[in-house]
Amino acid sequence: MQHSEEWKTWTHPITKTQYEITVQTPRDLSKADFDACFNLIEFTSSQDYKKSKDGWKPRSKRKEMKLLDLKYLLIKHEAHLEGFCSLMPTYEDDYPVIYCYEIHLSRALQGTGLGTALMRLLEGIGSRISGTEKAMLTCFTCNQGAIKFYGKLGFKKDEFSPPPKLLRNGTKIDSEYVILSKPISR
Ligand SMILES: CC(C)(COP(=O)(O)OP(=O)(O)OC[C@H]1O[C@@H](n2cnc3c(N)ncnc32)[C@H](O)[C@@H]1OP(=O)(O)O)[C@@H](O)C(=O)NCCC(=O)NCCS
Repeated sequence: MQHSEEWKTWTHPITKTQYEITVQTPRDLSKADFDACFNLIEFTSSQDYKKSKDGWKPRSKRKEMKLLDLKYLLIKHEAHLEGFCSLMPTYEDDYPVIYCYEIHLSRALQGTGLGTALMRLLEGIGSRISGTEKAMLTCFTCNQGAIKFYGKLGFKKDEFSPPPKLLRNGTKIDSEYVILSKPISR
């Protein structure tokens, strides 16, 4: 991942404030940045986890956030973390993919186009890793805002996304999460 000049900063479209974008590995993340990332996940998504079968498990989330192959894109203003995206080049069902593990912005930065910029960055990284076929992520089905966001970026339900459950009375129950993907263009 070359830290090219094009994406070292992002400018807020209304306030014109400049935010710094840096890349970090979980090993390099300071405790303060790691905790700030965790707090953002807790703030934006712990309610969705609580509604799910597995619930909100802070310890296992912290452990997952330290997976060695993850890379973090951190968004900061004056050393204050305002958002991040974590990603990993990996294999899913034998396909080489770039997986978006997390993307979370502070409330003030939601709806500003920053999420789109970060996902485009992620797709760009994927396109430069030889063989990568798709960008992929998992999203709670109850997070309809995020599902609309990914849909606008061209993500669609992946072939390996869990199918709805069919009850004996014929009622279909949607899975609590969906796997979305998008082919990587070069
Ligand atoms: C989801 C998230 C990363 C999107 O980033 P963002 O900067 O807010 O999104 P953008 O401003 O780039 O929006 C791009 C498009 O998606 C749409 N969109 C974004 N969030 C939306 C929402 N909550 N509801 C409906 N549409 C939404 C925007 O309206 C926009 O559409 P347009 O191009 O027609 O104007 C951000 O809102 C966020 O951090 N949310 C909380 C955490 C979260 O849910 N993360 C995803 C976990 S899977």
